[in-house]
Amino acid sequence: AAWWALDSPARRSARRSHRSEPFLIGVAGGTASGKTTVCDLIIQRLQEQSVVMLAQDSFYKSLTEADLANLGEYNFDVPEAFDSQLLMECLAALKAGHHFDVPVYNFTTHSRSSETLRVMPADVIVLEGILVLHMGEVRQLMNMKVYVDTDDDVRLARRIQRDVTVRGRDVGGVIEQYTKFVKPAFDQYVAPSRKFADVVIPWARGDNIVAIDLITEHIRMKLQQHDLRRIYPNLEVIPTNFQV
Ligand code: CTP
Repeated sequence: AAWWALDSPARRSARRSHRSEPFLIGVAGGTASGKTTVCDLIIQRLQEQSVVMLAQDSFYKSLTEADLANLGEYNFDVPEAFDSQLLMECLAALKAGHHFDVPVYNFTTHSRSSETLRVMPADVIVLEGILVLHMGEVRQLMNMKVYVDTDDDVRLARRIQRDVTVRGRDVGGVIEQYTKFVKPAFDQYVAPSRKFADVVIPWARGDNIVAIDLITEHIRMKLQQHDLRRIYPNLEVIPTNFQV
């Protein structure tokens, strides 16, 4: 997944008056589970908020010459594959209302490009990635934790298709990597992180709109409570607009 900020006049004006404490939502799930689609749908429904999207993938470490020479032995699915410190710095900056220059990762060369993308502070930060719920430090910063639950066979089929068409791989290599690294790491790190989720979205068909609506309503309600608290610091906020 790539980083982007969906822009619109409403978003630009919302960004100018962004809150100091943004709402951070973490979206985890196995490879090719549909995390990016879930995030897209959440963002589309938050038109009046300023929203930025972050992918844990942007924080992959660049491979060294030695790693590249031994590519078949490199495990991209374990926590050590990510520059967690940089991800934490990024989240801390955005939480504090500062911008952050996020690396641009290339899945074909397995390295960071020389460019970065500037992510501006926003009311809502959506962070997606296979291990975002596994990483305790990152998890602690989240205001809402989501796990996208998609059958393994569906995910493998999508992964093969995507890696061949988008990431420049061949079918045999994808299946070998999946068996050797992706599946064991899923069993060890990703699947157990499901228990940390506030919301688990069944996503086999890829159209659980009820779940998306519930999540976005919750975010809207929380941001509204925050506004009211800023105006009336001692006010007890009783939500009245949360409809199921
Ligand atoms: N990966 C890879 N080569 C790299 C870096 C990462 O093959 N150089 C793979 C890892 O094996 C890992 C996967 O990329 O399993 C993580 O991306 P994934 O979660 O599949 O992509 P998203 O688009 O974020 O997920 P989704 O399809 O759920 O939206």
